[in-house]
Amino acid sequence: MQTIVQRADGDAIRQAARLLLAGEVVGIPTETVYGLAANALSETAVQKIFAAKGRPQDNPLISHIASLEMLPMVVRDVPERAYRLAEAFWPGPLTIILSRARQLASAVCAGLDTASVRMPSHPAARAVIEAAGVPLAAPSANLSGSPSPTTAADVLSDMDGRIPLILDGGACSVGVESTVISLAGDEPLLLRPGYITAEQLEQTLECRVALSSAILNPLKQGETAASPGMKYKHYAPKAEVILLKGSLAAYKAYITEQGSDHICALCFSGEEGELNCPCVTYGRADSPEEQARELFSALRELDARGARVAYARCPESRGVAMAVYNRLLRAAAFRVVEVS
Ligand code: TXA
Ligand code: MG
Repeated sequence: MQTIVQRADGDAIRQAARLLLAGEVVGIPTETVYGLAANALSETAVQKIFAAKGRPQDNPLISHIASLEMLPMVVRDVPERAYRLAEAFWPGPLTIILSRARQLASAVCAGLDTASVRMPSHPAARAVIEAAGVPLAAPSANLSGSPSPTTAADVLSDMDGRIPLILDGGACSVGVESTVISLAGDEPLLLRPGYITAEQLEQTLECRVALSSAILNPLKQGETAASPGMKYKHYAPKAEVILLKGSLAAYKAYITEQGSDHICALCFSGEEGELNCPCVTYGRADSPEEQARELFSALRELDARGARVAYARCPESRGVAMAVYNRLLRAAAFRVVEVS
C-alpha cells in the first residue's frame, strides 16, 4: 500500500472522511500526538488499527468525538461529573472513561465494559470527525512500543506502507498524550497524567482524584493494570535510557565517569554548553510545557543519532511535569539513578 501525506486542507479532510467511512485507517493530527483513526462503530475498521500498529488486542482505544451529540455513540449512563469535566476541558487533551455504549465496536474496548472518550481541540481532527459523522477510535500513530509521533513525518516513518493517508496538521502543540481519568468507579481515578493536571481535575470536580499507582511505579508481578496500556513497554527508543535524578553538576560528573562510547545526554535546553558529550535537548528545565512538547521528538532523535545509551535529566513529578516524568520512566523502563 502506498502512503500519501497531505496537508490537512478541505479536500484532504473530505478524502480522509471517505476513506474512514470505507473502513480504512487514516493518520490524523491532534493537539496531543498524532492518532491512527478508524470508524469506532466498525469492527473490521478497528481491527485494521491493531494490525497497522502491531498493538496487543487487550489494549483498548480512545474514541474521539467532535460534539456532545456524539457522546451516546460511545458511552452511556453519563454522570454529572463527566459533564463538568467536559464543560471545563473539552475540546482538549482530556480522556474520560465511562460505561460503554452497545453500538461501539467491541474491539475498541478490548473486552472491557467501559469505553474512553475524548473531544480533541485540533481543528483538523474536529473537521475529520465531523465530516465522517462517526466517532473515531484512535491510538497514538506510532508502532506499538515506540515513541508517540508529534509530526506527520514521525507518523510516516512508522506507518509508511501500512495506511493509505496521513493528514499533516503541523507539529502537535501539547506533545504528550491526553490525561486519562476514569469515572467508571466510585471515586475518580487518574490513569495517565497529561497536560490537564490532577490538581485541575480536583478543582473542577471539587473532590479528591486518586492517582493510579501505575503512573509512577512499575506494575508488581501478577498485578492487573487499571489501564491495560500501562503494562506494556512504552515510548522506548532503541537506545537504553537511564534517568539521573539530581543536580546538573552531579549529572555532568556521572556522565563523565561513564566514558563516551555512543552515549548521549538527554538534557534540558541550554545545558548543552556545560556538557562535553553529544546532547539531545527536551525543553528548558523551568518549562514543563516545553518539555512535554519536545520529549517524543527528542526520543526519536536519539535513535536517528544511533545513541546506545542516553542519560536523561530528570523532570519534576508534579503538575504538567508529571506527564513528562511518567513517559520518561517508561522510556527508561524505570531505571532511575540518584546522583548527587
Ligand atoms: O492524546 C491521546 O490520548 C492520543 C490521541 C491520538 O488522542 N491517543 C492515545 O491513545 O494516546 P493510546 O491508545 O495510545 O492510549 C490510550 C490509553 C491506553 O493506555 C489504554 O490502555 C487506555 O488509554 N484506555 C483506553 N480505554 C480504556 C478503558 N476503557 N479502560 C482503561 N484504560 C483505557
Ligand atoms: Mg500510545
